[in-house]
Amino acid sequence: MTADELREKYLNFFEERGHHRLPSAPLIPENDPTVLFTTAGMHPLIPFLMGEKHPAGQRLCDVQKCLRTDDIDEVGDMAHLTFFEMLGNWSLGDYFKKEAIEWSYEFLTSSQWLGLEKEKLAVSCFGGDETAPKDEESAQLWQSVGIPKERIAFLGRKENWWGPIGETGPCGPDTEMFYWVGKDPTPKIFNPQDANWVEIWNDVFMTYNRTKEGKYELLKQKNVDTGMGLERTLAVINHLPSVFETELFVPLIGKIEEISLKKYEDFPKECRIIADHLKASIFLLAEHLEPSNVERGYILRRLIRRAVRFGRLLGIKDFFAFKFVEPVLKIYGETYPELNENKDFIEEQLVREEEKFSQTLSKGLALFEKLAQNKKIISGREAFDLYQSYGFPLELIKELAREKNIEVDTNGFQEEFKKHQELSRTASAGMFKGGLASHSDKAIKYHTATHLLHKALQEVLGEEVKQKGSNINEERLRFDFSCSQKPTSEQLKKVEDIVNQKIQENLPVIMKEMSLEEAKKIGAIGLFGEKYGERVKVYFIGRTENGLENAYSKEICGGPHVNNTGELGHFKIIKEEAVSQGVRRIKAILE
Ligand code: ALA
Repeated sequence: MTADELREKYLNFFEERGHHRLPSAPLIPENDPTVLFTTAGMHPLIPFLMGEKHPAGQRLCDVQKCLRTDDIDEVGDMAHLTFFEMLGNWSLGDYFKKEAIEWSYEFLTSSQWLGLEKEKLAVSCFGGDETAPKDEESAQLWQSVGIPKERIAFLGRKENWWGPIGETGPCGPDTEMFYWVGKDPTPKIFNPQDANWVEIWNDVFMTYNRTKEGKYELLKQKNVDTGMGLERTLAVINHLPSVFETELFVPLIGKIEEISLKKYEDFPKECRIIADHLKASIFLLAEHLEPSNVERGYILRRLIRRAVRFGRLLGIKDFFAFKFVEPVLKIYGETYPELNENKDFIEEQLVREEEKFSQTLSKGLALFEKLAQNKKIISGREAFDLYQSYGFPLELIKELAREKNIEVDTNGFQEEFKKHQELSRTASAGMFKGGLASHSDKAIKYHTATHLLHKALQEVLGEEVKQKGSNINEERLRFDFSCSQKPTSEQLKKVEDIVNQKIQENLPVIMKEMSLEEAKKIGAIGLFGEKYGERVKVYFIGRTENGLENAYSKEICGGPHVNNTGELGHFKIIKEEAVSQGVRRIKAILE
């Protein structure tokens, strides 16, 4: 069965049962700045699950483009994807458990539809907790369509509760369908831990709303929200070992083999990552997202760069990301016309981003050469620095080292990694908090440059320098500070040199939330005193191997900032003047 046939079958089945077919909503949610991407078919339908009337009625179905980036670093195994399509059907306060379960079973097993083997099907139901009771009703319904008791498992909230997306909104208990793909005969008893039981479909009985206070209130109406993974189901129907053997991936894997002259079977992980990440990037670019250092653009950047790194690891020397546009269009062009409509833009952006990243890559390579001179081993810290500041994966460092007959202290690397994991997690969490959407890349760079300038002024002119004000626009930064005398041109030159030195050092910028007291104790500069709450964000610029307190700059600040000073370019003071008694003003640019 082709992907197209599966999509059509699914939509036809539900249309025959009174559902209205909706087009896929964009990956970038409309009118919802609180989430990065559409992660499930129900996402665009939230207001209607909450009780608003949908113009197309109470029964809906669609195929929705989805992007999940929570476990981007796990892509490369058999199961994880970032971009996928979800087949879904909804009842907005219309039918409920009985129809949902009977139809799911019929669609999966009837020879007229998917014709899957009944004996290979198992289900899980919600086991109950303080919020909602055990879902005996669903289990009963499954039994009456023919699923034996032994293949019905009751599981907890982690497995059988879905939603809300974010902190609040519609959610509820669910029942999930699994299909046996093992070589052995189907076991009598369903064991959800066994990877041979593949989850293919989820029927959520959306009856609750989670409130800001964390309470679960009953919704105005009883909804059904279902989601079936297109790629997985396609693999299951066609008896393929994984989603990567389906027609939605084979041409992409083939392209990688063609460009790299390597075999998929020898480098499955690298090939899967490149195929998945570039496909996801192409779909995001088709919606006119551009790579950047914040929010959605940052995820796009990570996807492209990770694909590029793994491409280099396979030995691909030339720019190659754009070469995947054609094959992705061939697979998806008819289903998703936005791909063809934006082909030029997509290719151009891929080339541009790969070009940019190749620059950091070569800087990192130069550092590696330096580190590797007259050495037998690259230390854990050195390896980690290459990883953190230049985005070098450990595998690449190891390969480079092998060519020079030297070793990498991988245990030391893992230790460094663990030490920093907590920090980087906080940093990336910080990056997605707050409404950053309106900040341009340029303004973010100026913001980080302001922190460096502040610190450099203190170094050159003394601790009396305190920030009095700051203003940033696309063209320049403006920084007002207390200082009793006019700085000399030598002093200003020195300040400029220090800032540029820090930029050249490619220092990581790390955010950590802490109590105001803790921030003061480690010497973070605070600017507005009592305006802060109990918990504050502190931005650290500098090497933090020996503890955060040893970073070059430490400021309490809401962000956002770049990830690394290396992104700033060249810093130049264009004007210095007095604004009032004891207050000076500097205007500076990044070139
Ligand atoms: N919203 C449910 C899911 O994504 C159907 O699994």
